Amino acid sequence: MKVTKAVIPAAGLGTRVLPATKSMPKEMLPIVDKPAIQYIVEEAVRSGITDILIITNRGKGLIEDHFDRAPELEAKLQSGGPDKQKTLEEIVEIAHKANFYFVRQKETCGLGHAVHCAKSFVGNEPFAVLYGDDVIIGKDPACGQLIRAYEEYGLGVVGVNKVTEEAITKYSSLKVEPLHDSFFKCTDMIEKPSPDKIMSLYSILGRCVLTPDIFEILEKTGPGAGGEIQLTDAMRTLARRDGMIAVDFTGTRYDMGNKLGIMKAQVEVALQHPEIGDDFRAYLKGLSKTL
Ligand code: UTP
Repeated sequence: MKVTKAVIPAAGLGTRVLPATKSMPKEMLPIVDKPAIQYIVEEAVRSGITDILIITNRGKGLIEDHFDRAPELEAKLQSGGPDKQKTLEEIVEIAHKANFYFVRQKETCGLGHAVHCAKSFVGNEPFAVLYGDDVIIGKDPACGQLIRAYEEYGLGVVGVNKVTEEAITKYSSLKVEPLHDSFFKCTDMIEKPSPDKIMSLYSILGRCVLTPDIFEILEKTGPGAGGEIQLTDAMRTLARRDGMIAVDFTGTRYDMGNKLGIMKAQVEVALQHPEIGDDFRAYLKGLSKTL
């Protein structure tokens, strides 16, 4: 079955980016001139996704507004002459990138709990999950790479990259065996492993494709690391029971959930930006001489 639905959990509290995220959703933090979540939506759409459910909570209304029309702004741009027409088209297009749906996670009980809020939206179909604070930029959209693995094997798929030994204790670690190219079979995983529990340096980074089987498993999954219902714990049950596929995806991933990740994203994307790229490069070169 084709994967056309995606879920973007964006209901976290963003405590690592305070005070910026006190009233502003971290998923709306801009990378140069686009909010993080727009990059994620664009990746999903380029991967063939047509229907997107964004999991929000109190105070995340800005996300809904961003993917809606903005009549006053549009009228202003309309009367602003030919140079504003391109901006107008871009602004209008945001609302039509996909069919958008929103549901509130009423309590912030973890990523697994957030994904469970998608149960009725998903129905009986496979679906992609794109974590709302993980932006991945690349020619071949990461979500699409995972969908290809799902189409080949019909199993749940996780997007992975190798990370350092130090970083893996903050993420997850997977037991994997190579299949072909960047595809691996995954039969076990652990969230935030202590150094003696590390299975490999492959860690799940922000993307998966799941079948609706995950909901029944999530219903039986108790709180894990940090007292939250962890999606990784539910996927571990799935990996041990049926096996999953791990895809070592291509693309550069930016963790918009921490301050350094946000700054790396800003600098690298600004350097490639058609409007400011050249000026920014010149500025950085000058600045680097003073460091
Ligand atoms: P994180 O664990 O990185 O988000 O979840 P967080 O809880 O906002 O982080 P900190 O530690 O407080 O800074 C990854 C993704 O899952 C969403 C987040 O919005 C983020 O996009 N999430 C997390 C939910 O939707 N609900 C939750 O209960 C937890």
